Amino acid sequence: MLGNWKRLDTWFSTWNKNNPTDIYGPVIVMGTLGGALIAAIALVSLGQPFKTDSMQTGPRGTGMSVPEFVSDLAEPDPGIAAYAAIDTDGDAVAAMRAWTGIPTLFEDEEDYQTIVAHRMIEMTQNINENWDAHVNANGEVGVTCFTCHRGQAVPSGVWYNITPVNQSMAGWSSTQNMATSQSQYTSLPSDALQSYLADYEPIGVHDLDSRVPGVPGQDVAAIQNAERTYSLMNYFANSLGVNCVFCHNSRAFYDAAQVTPQWATASLGIAMVQELNLDYLIPLEEVLPPERLGPVHADAPKLACMTCHKGYQQPLQGTNVIADWPDLATIGASVVD
Ligand code: HEC
Ligand code: HEC
Ligand code: HEC
Repeated sequence: MLGNWKRLDTWFSTWNKNNPTDIYGPVIVMGTLGGALIAAIALVSLGQPFKTDSMQTGPRGTGMSVPEFVSDLAEPDPGIAAYAAIDTDGDAVAAMRAWTGIPTLFEDEEDYQTIVAHRMIEMTQNINENWDAHVNANGEVGVTCFTCHRGQAVPSGVWYNITPVNQSMAGWSSTQNMATSQSQYTSLPSDALQSYLADYEPIGVHDLDSRVPGVPGQDVAAIQNAERTYSLMNYFANSLGVNCVFCHNSRAFYDAAQVTPQWATASLGIAMVQELNLDYLIPLEEVLPPERLGPVHADAPKLACMTCHKGYQQPLQGTNVIADWPDLATIGASVVD
């Protein structure tokens, strides 16, 4: 028996040698065809994943546009669905409890959260009535507690005074070269929000003369002022999810005659944020418990563009949140009976 097998074995080897077959050629052809077919099916069914779209912000041909991935544009702000899911049948107290995530709000008038909430109602009414040209710039949008709070007691995007960030330095150097959230994780200064949105420092730095007479830092803007302005501008861009040409013509950042309409809305936004911080949030320092105060200066949390915008060009992508709550848009109206 073994002899027969041996014969078969040699027979096969001989036959194989006499009839050579190219197995590599067909494998390469089939592999290439198959791969191309899979790629074609993927492109047809999934679409080009990194396609971009751009929004023109300035005159044609100036390159003033904000590019974004189409896949991102198709994705709505999840806050919109979260807002729609809160249905309290017009009960303002129930709505405010849901919007802030504080179920005990207005139960005890001595409770600090209720004391703050009364101030917050006044602040919200002031925003909707006096800063109408910002919060209803394009259409009726407005602001409710949810715009900032999103179901949390302390909204995201609040900030504290955190400088000096570098203890081994003094003066200007102590405020920069440290990647903090307030420097937008760059080496730029970390005191831009404090200086411009609470302390009313002037923002302009640009001069058209090449050599400006005077002393930098005293009667002429120093290079550090330019860096701090840039830190603030990066914060604006990140807060709205846009780039610089959403507001400026990049050939003339200084020129208010060459800007986009959004620049004017942003200017109002700066003044609004300053007022809200000075009149409403900073005075709350006396009411808040220590764990709510800042880590360096025990200051009250403050707000700015990010607190409402949360990375979107318009908060909740322009969803009208105020139409159903006219009392939150009228100064002096009673919201809690
Ligand atoms: C423009 C943004 C904004 C709006 C609108 C807003 N808040 Fe606030 N709220 C804040 C910020 C910032 C804080 C954190 C500062 C603080 O605690 O004082 C805060 C804090 C609070 C707190 C204290 C929470 C805690 O545990 O410390 C309560 C309560 C509150 N808000 C209720 C409300 C209510 C109710 C409304 C609507 C009538 C409202 N807020 C509208 C920004 C806002
Ligand atoms: C959301 C709108 C907006 C965006 C985005 C924006 N800016 Fe500005 N920028 C302004 C406004 C408004 C002012 C004027 C502030 C003032 O003088 O009160 C300004 C001022 C400036 C100035 C000072 C001009 C001067 O007169 O000295 C510079 C420089 C500047 N921006 C650069 C930038 C850069 C760079 C970017 C992108 C990283 C940017 N901006 C993004 C709105 C914006
Ligand atoms: C109290 C909440 C709130 C704060 C704080 C806030 N904004 Fe706004 N902003 C809004 C709302 C609401 C709109 C939408 C208005 C509309 O589209 O009708 C808006 C619209 C804008 C627009 C116009 C966008 C467009 O598509 O035309 C710009 C620009 C803007 N904000 C810049 C800023 C900047 C810069 C800051 C910080 C200095 C800021 N905002 C702070 C609520 C806020």
